[in-house]
Amino acid sequence: MTTTATAPLPPVRPYESYVYAYPHKTAYRPLEERPSLRALWAAEPKDALSLYLHIPFCEVRCGFCNLFARIGAPEELTTRYLDALERQAVAARDALGDVGPVRFAAAAFGGGTPTFLTAGELERLCDIAEQRMGAELRAVPLSVETSPATATADRLAVLADRGTTRISIGVQSFVDEEARAAVRPQRRADVEAALGRIREAAIPVLNIDLIYGIDGQTERSWLASLDAALVWRPEELYLYPLYVRPLTGLHRLGAVAGAEAEALEQVSWDEQRLRLYAVGRDHLLAHGYEQVSMRMFRRSDAPREQESPEDYACQTDGMIGLGCGARSYTAALHYSFDYAVDMREIRSIIDRFTATEDFSRAEVGRYVDAGEARRRHLMQSLLQAAGLSVADYRARFGTDPGADFPAELAGFAARGWLDPSAPQGLLRLSPSGLAHSDALGPALFSPGVRAAMAAYERK
Ligand SMILES: C[S@@+](CC[C@H](N)C(=O)[O-])C[C@H]1O[C@@H](n2cnc3c(N)ncnc32)[C@H](O)[C@@H]1O
Ligand code: SF4
Repeated sequence: MTTTATAPLPPVRPYESYVYAYPHKTAYRPLEERPSLRALWAAEPKDALSLYLHIPFCEVRCGFCNLFARIGAPEELTTRYLDALERQAVAARDALGDVGPVRFAAAAFGGGTPTFLTAGELERLCDIAEQRMGAELRAVPLSVETSPATATADRLAVLADRGTTRISIGVQSFVDEEARAAVRPQRRADVEAALGRIREAAIPVLNIDLIYGIDGQTERSWLASLDAALVWRPEELYLYPLYVRPLTGLHRLGAVAGAEAEALEQVSWDEQRLRLYAVGRDHLLAHGYEQVSMRMFRRSDAPREQESPEDYACQTDGMIGLGCGARSYTAALHYSFDYAVDMREIRSIIDRFTATEDFSRAEVGRYVDAGEARRRHLMQSLLQAAGLSVADYRARFGTDPGADFPAELAGFAARGWLDPSAPQGLLRLSPSGLAHSDALGPALFSPGVRAAMAAYERK
């Protein structure tokens, strides 16, 4: 009898990157032809659009964060920002035209920290969404991000009154020393008080963000954070593995070790994050939560009528994003005001945004061809615990994912990342596949997108 030895698979790094939008913004480039928004939106379906408003201000800069935001807003900058947002909203609504129904099916305010704005400014933000864009905020799901220090009763009252259905708060850790280690200056008592105010505001869905893999965090302290969160019975919980990205405070703090020591450290940190992920997942599953994606968990008995889309990170076609860091999506083009994510450039981009009068054209972006659209659909569906329906894929593209991505899917199967017991016609990740979502997602990037992202990073 002969046996065929299969070569061992090369090791993968489980934390390559969080794929929350594809193509990533670092693959966007200036659009030489500066297409008019009117032309871009002319043939798009407009009866179930999403609206996203980006507020790029925070009270502090957390050590782990590389989101598009600056600390504070001197000299009426928020007023100038809202003025520009309003001009942009007028241009975007104008581009949607009046032929056929124009309707927003969902809205979100993100950041930065939208509640950096005062209660009065939040009223104005809602007015822009309603009066300038025509979004009926009280009739659709409206999600808003907040932070402990800015979740004040007056702001929450405005948000509740204007129809907010989901509030998402970044807590990161209920252990003060861990918050300090993540350079997230906050006290547990203030976090608890903020959660109390949110529950008093009676916004239907509360989401709490927590981070694992922080220096000094142990299984026991991670469980303590999870239990502290569970006391509030949040309808949703997001568990984020810590990433330390270039140009963040944590990165600058990082010890300068030799390459070999660094590689060893990386492996043990990866192992620690995988362990804490499994501990967190099992704890939530044992406490009445279901897993929606690697990061997202939903309380099984939460009221379903307020249900948010499968995963807030997963974005659909037909998105109007307003603000200097927001993306907009038509079927053929993803675009934004600017594509820099480098913190050194954020201030000047905000200043340029507030000085802009004409928002009628797309300045930077990336065209999404049929192949990229297939990749995007595969990524967005496969990274959900519910998996990808082959029939839906076929209905949309006329082909099978197995025929379009044979090598990628065979590779995932060889690593045990696909669930062999999934029903016929469903491509679903195994528990190990879900745990490796941040390796699996980037493995599906096209060579073109990969090259554009790498060129941006070398800049
Ligand atoms: C827009 S922020 C949350 C809203 C709000 N600004 C706050 O911090 O309270 C989205 C979430 O992404 C997560 N996050 C951001 N950067 C991260 C990183 N480098 N590693 C892990 N999680 C991260 C955090 O949990 C954060 O709450
Ligand atoms: S985590 Fe939130 S509060 Fe902290 S810097 Fe990032 S966006 Fe701002």
